Amino acid sequence: MKVVIIGAGYVGLCTGITLAYLNNQVTFIDVDVKKIEKLNHGILPIYEPGLKELYELSKNNLHFRSDYETFSEADIAFITVGTPIRSDGFADMSYVKDATYHIGMNILDGHTIIINKSTVPIGSADWVKSLILDAYEKHNAREMPGKLSVVSNPEFLKEGTAVYDSFFPNRIVIGCDDLNVIHKIVNLYSPIINQNFVPPAFLKRPANLASVPLIKTNVISAELLKYTANSYLSLKISFINEIACLAEKVGADITTIAKGIGLDERIGSEFLKAGIGWGGSCFGKDTAAIIATASDYGIDMPIIKAAREVNYQMRDNILTKILDNLKIVKGKTIGILGLSFKPDTDDLRDAPSIDIIKKLVAMGAKVNVHDPVVEEESIRQKVDNHEFKYVNKIEEVFEKVDALILVTEWKIYRNIDWEKMRNRMTNKIVFDGRNFLDENLLESLDIKYVGVGK
Ligand code: NAD
Ligand code: UGA
Repeated sequence: MKVVIIGAGYVGLCTGITLAYLNNQVTFIDVDVKKIEKLNHGILPIYEPGLKELYELSKNNLHFRSDYETFSEADIAFITVGTPIRSDGFADMSYVKDATYHIGMNILDGHTIIINKSTVPIGSADWVKSLILDAYEKHNAREMPGKLSVVSNPEFLKEGTAVYDSFFPNRIVIGCDDLNVIHKIVNLYSPIINQNFVPPAFLKRPANLASVPLIKTNVISAELLKYTANSYLSLKISFINEIACLAEKVGADITTIAKGIGLDERIGSEFLKAGIGWGGSCFGKDTAAIIATASDYGIDMPIIKAAREVNYQMRDNILTKILDNLKIVKGKTIGILGLSFKPDTDDLRDAPSIDIIKKLVAMGAKVNVHDPVVEEESIRQKVDNHEFKYVNKIEEVFEKVDALILVTEWKIYRNIDWEKMRNRMTNKIVFDGRNFLDENLLESLDIKYVGVGK
């Protein structure tokens, strides 16, 4: 099939390159000319494990453009542009709106299926359709004679495992009332639904995965389903973090508690890792958006509101612990391990590290930061004019520190030679924001260990 992907970001690239691997001709359209230039030279604009390898395997089926001229050739077009948070909590739909204008200007009369894969407010499919038709009518001075279908097909991939999630998703959701259209989309996804493709060598199909569940529903349910999934995952993490705060006071261990409740199949063990809470491009914006949408209908969302409150409180909690231990941070040196909102990505959107750096610097601390993938320029852009030192080598982050904070649980931090590093530290104390480090090892080396919820 001829597929167009509008928006070559995390979702667009992972979806599009996967579809290209599955023998579809995929054209990416992105308004970011530099990004398209890079992609045309084989340079991926994001860090996502396996994506470069997949690109190399699929490049004969990949095309990158910064204009919509070839849009008309598409059988199916995905909208995967960003829908960031607006100051009032609603999703900023300006990028989607811009995409609809260009689609309307370039679409032909034949039947094109437009898929909203971006996370969009409830009712967006009809809105997108009306905007495309308006643009078409203005451009052609007549009504569109052919049929236009706008479908909801939300995305559930996680950064860091996005390639794996694209090939082996837990489910595929299609929100659409037209059986012919559903049939075409199912056809596109058929190798994934039926798991009858040969995976790239670096990806192993999960044992016993014979097929992927398909949920066919109406557009509105599909749109709300996406917000519900992210809200639920957010509150699961906040729930365990709330219990972690109590566990800490009473002398219990949250990791054991999480394991103990997670073994109950009704609860499940995923997303029960306590720590400094969630960040990233979606949980914050999607929980805000569902609350904002509900308020339009006079509905309060106390549970989701609480999940947000607990989450952002966790970022302050770690600072409180630092103050409790160091008393004064002014003039002290604090090292930070990890900047991205989670490991295996370079994404800094709503990363807890940003708030933590800003607050420490505002309190007068000298801050040294390290991340294996996030580049200096990216973190500098996020923390405005707050002064900090970016170091390339892990050992430099230990230099004369009065405290060390682990913010992101990158695997390489598990292999730190603590025996060597402890000599570089002025004050031997580590705040493990992800309960990730080997507490016993650190304590055995006389390094004070402070975790979350234990
Ligand atoms: P992103 O910011 O990484 O990428 C968006 C891309 O769209 C950018 O490259 C931008 O230049 C491009 N763009 C903006 N306006 C455009 C236009 N008019 N025409 C063509 N291109 C345009 O965003 P993302 O993280 O991939 O997220 C995209 C959507 O997918 C969001 O709605 C998000 O909520 C949703 N989502 C994201 C994830 C994730 O893990 N990042 C997972 C599931 C769903
Ligand atoms: C999340 C969802 O997991 C995806 O299903 C969804 O598609 C995506 O949002 C989206 O809509 O953008 P992502 O944000 O990439 O994916 O990563 P997650 O693995 O969900 O982690 C989010 C945050 O939660 C990270 O900061 C992570 O450190 C934190 N987290 C996760 C915890 O604090 N504890 C946990 O147990 C799990």
